[in-house]
Parts: sequence; C-alpha cells; structure tokens
Amino acid sequence: MNYRIAEQKIKGILTKSKSTTILQDVVDVLHESFEKYSWVGIYRVKGDVLVLGPWKGKQATEHTKIPIGKGVCGSAARSGKIEVVADVSKDSRYLSCFRSTRSEIVVPIKKKNRVIGEIDIDSDVSAAFNKTDELFLEKIADMLRQHI
Ligand code: SME
Repeated sequence: MNYRIAEQKIKGILTKSKSTTILQDVVDVLHESFEKYSWVGIYRVKGDVLVLGPWKGKQATEHTKIPIGKGVCGSAARSGKIEVVADVSKDSRYLSCFRSTRSEIVVPIKKKNRVIGEIDIDSDVSAAFNKTDELFLEKIADMLRQHI
C-alpha cells in the first residue's frame, strides 16, 4: 500500500466522518497501510503534559502521559520540530515502550504555530523512516489539526 492511497483513505475519513472515532480511524489506516509502522499513536497536549489518545499496535504503552520536554515525544512537543530517531538505543532521550522497537518518528500537530498534539510511530525496523515518511506524516499532521 503506498503513501498516496493511505493519504486518500485518510482524506476520506476526515471529510466524511463526523464521528468521535475519526482519530482512531486515521491511526488504524496508518498502522495497516505500512508494515514498518509497528505502533501508531496520537498524543494531545494538555497543559504541560502529552496525553495518549487513540493508538494501534500489538501492545499498550505505559507512557500514556509524558511531560513536555521528556523523551523523544516531549522533545518534539517542546521544539515543534519533527524527530526522527534511526536507532532508539543510541538516543538517551528515548523512553522505552516496546522491546521490539528499533526506530521512531514523532511529528508535531500544530495550530497557529502552537503544538497541540503529535503523531508518534515506533518501528520494529531499524532506520525505518525516510524523507518520504516525514513529508507524508507532516501532511497528515496538518490534516489532523482541526480534529485534535
Ligand atoms: N518512545 C517515546 C515514548 C512513547 S512510546 O514510543 C509509545 C519517547 O521517547 O518519547
């Protein structure tokens, strides 16, 4: 399944669905569309904490609340910049969730330059995320702005 098809599916969800499951539906599409997206979750910014919303993957994470500034997720929330970690074992900020995770990408969702949430994806594949993933997920993050 390619990026274009996933984007169209997500556009469809966001334009047609008025339901409260929008974010879960988007997470599900991302997870099922790319095998290397082993765990997909959306965090929302609530004050100075990131709170886990919908997610899809083999296991639940213990990190359902992450202070802004902590971990890879908290770093992206603080800076507003995308974080790509090719090898999580080499990043001292990394908060471990799953033993199988090798790489991670965190894409901030912003409204008027303020971070309101983020897409977090863990991969069981080393260095799974390339420029295409970055551009694709930035586009999806932008589409989610109104739905956080
Ligand atoms: N690894 C993240 C924590 C969230 S889990 O990956 C789902 C981090 O370092 O912030």
